[in-house]
Parts: sequence; C-alpha cells; structure tokens
Amino acid sequence: MSTNFAIDAAARAILFTDARSNLVFADRPVAMETVRDVWDLIKWGPTANNTVPLRVLAATSDTARAAVLDAAAAGNRDKIAAAPLVLVAARDERFHETFGITGGSETAAARFEADPETRTRFSHTNTMLQTGYLILGLRAAGLAVRPVGGFDRAALDAALFADASWRSEPASAGGSPRAGARCGRAQGPHRRRCRGARGMTAGATAPGDTARARLTGIGRAYAILALVEAITWTGLLIGMGVKYGPQTTEIGVTVFGPLHGIAFLAYAAVTVIAAVRLRWGLGVTLLALVAAVPPLTTLPMEMWLRRTGRLAPR
Ligand SMILES: Cc1cc2nc3c(=O)[nH]c(=O)nc-3n(C[C@H](O)[C@H](O)[C@H](O)COP(=O)(O)O)c2cc1C
Repeated sequence: MSTNFAIDAAARAILFTDARSNLVFADRPVAMETVRDVWDLIKWGPTANNTVPLRVLAATSDTARAAVLDAAAAGNRDKIAAAPLVLVAARDERFHETFGITGGSETAAARFEADPETRTRFSHTNTMLQTGYLILGLRAAGLAVRPVGGFDRAALDAALFADASWRSEPASAGGSPRAGARCGRAQGPHRRRCRGARGMTAGATAPGDTARARLTGIGRAYAILALVEAITWTGLLIGMGVKYGPQTTEIGVTVFGPLHGIAFLAYAAVTVIAAVRLRWGLGVTLLALVAAVPPLTTLPMEMWLRRTGRLAPR
C-alpha cells in the first residue's frame, strides 16, 4: 500500500476512491452552516489571475427549487428532486470588480473590463475549476454530491439571475449519503453499493469500512495483542478471585500471571511500533498504552483505533 500521501486512506476514500456521484441521499436536510463552512474551505483554491468567479446559490426556497426543476433536462428532474441540497453554481462575469478582495491586480481588472470576451472565457474556466473544489469540499464535509449540468441555462438564468451578472454553470445535487444506497458509475470497476454507515455523516463510505478492509500488518498485530492482553487479564482476574476467595487453588494466578506479564509487555512494544509506523499522535499513543492497565480496556481501544482508520495504511 502506498504511503506517498499526506492524508490517510480513510480521508482519500472520502474525497476520491470511494466517493461517487450519488443519486440517492438520506432524507434529512443539510445545514446552511455546513455549506458556508465548505465555501470558506474552498474559496481560495488556485485560479488564474486570482479570479474568484464562482457564485453559489442554494435553492432552499420553494420558488428557487421549482425554477431549478423547471429548467432541468427531463432526465435530471427526479435526480434533483431527490436531493435535500441543491446548489446552483454560477459564474460572475464581473468577477474583476472584487479583485480588491481576491488579490487580483488593478491592471488586470482594467484589462478584463475592456475585454468582455476574455472575461467570459476566464469566468467560465475558473468557475468550473472552483466547482471541482466545491465538490471536494462537500465531500470533505461528509456529503455525497452529484454534479448536474443538463439544464436550459437561459431559462435558469432568467429565473434566478435576471438582474445579476451571474450566469449558471453546473449545479450540484447533494445530501448526506444514505446507507446501502446504490451509487457509482453504471459500468466498470467503480460499480458498487455505497456503504454509508448508520449515523455517520462522512463520505459515501464509512471511513471505518475502508479501514477495516485494509489493516496494515502492524495494525493487525496490534489488534491481535489487544485481544490477547484482554484475555490474559481476564484469566488473571479469575485466578486471583479463586486464590483470594474460595482459596481452593492458585493455578489461575500461576498460569495467567506470567502469561499476562508477557502479553502486557508485547502489547506495549507493538503499540509503540504501531504508533510510530502509523503516525499516531502522542495523545493517542499514551491512551493506547494506558488502555493496558484497566481490565479489558484494550478491546474498546482497538475498536476505536480501527474505526477511525488508525490501523489502516496512512
Ligand atoms: C460538469 C458535469 C456535468 C454533469 N452533468 C450531469 C447531468 O446532467 N446529469 C447527470 O445525471 N449527471 C451529470 N454529471 C455526473 C457524471 O455523470 C458523473 O459524475 C460521472 O458519471 C462519474 O460518476 P461517479 O462519480 O459515480 O464515478 C455531471 C458531471 C459533471 C462533472
């Protein structure tokens, strides 16, 4: 498994490898605050001449939603109607007026003002680029997204942007992923079921699903030792109960005492190796070590590490 990435496999799955253009979404609204956070995340992605021509209209009112549905190509209507979140991307053909905020130069602003044709080309190209950032930002917020370009653009502009310098570009139909919903390309290696986990809001696939499928060797060694540590701890506890309770035999302590000692040391050693190789932070590493002290705590610790992708390739 490649480790040439700064983000772990679970994050890569959410953004790229497991994310597909969903058609089915969970039946719950998406908070506008989330959309605003996504905008703040993506707004400074690189563009030509520091243009920021993308404008995003969230079709939240009945009127705006109806306008989008009316302008949509027939094959797209059901797809849009099924999405809790409908974002219409638009290019602002007067993007150069905000160069004071976006970092474009005054000279460039004057050049764009004098050349509407180049302005349209720039605004289209860079809006499409920013729309790509938007899709990734929405995925990073745990949302599933389907870009939809099939619209009567003139009708959409007339309905939504009549008095503005905005012109519509592809919209995005989105929402929280729905567990078990079919998604993905109709053909090819990407055909699959979305595996969104119950109660999870991240990505089309639960990070834990991916992480579970791809434990590293050291991750697996950690999981095994977490189990062995818990089993020997339990044996020792029972042995001590018998030794100091009914006092019938000391065999439990005699057998499980040394076994647990070895398991404890092996668990600690493997934890440190896993922490280094899988790049856990200091806090997580200490927590994993301390988990060996109270009885059976290595089990929930291992489950949490696995679920959060910390036993998977990083
Ligand atoms: C610019 C753009 C326009 C698109 N327009 C439509 C569309 O009108 N209707 C539709 O169903 N899907 C549309 N899509 C979605 C693509 O068909 C989909 O992203 C592609 O098949 C990849 O699918 P996957 O992400 O599930 O692998 C569009 C995608 C992009 C990027």
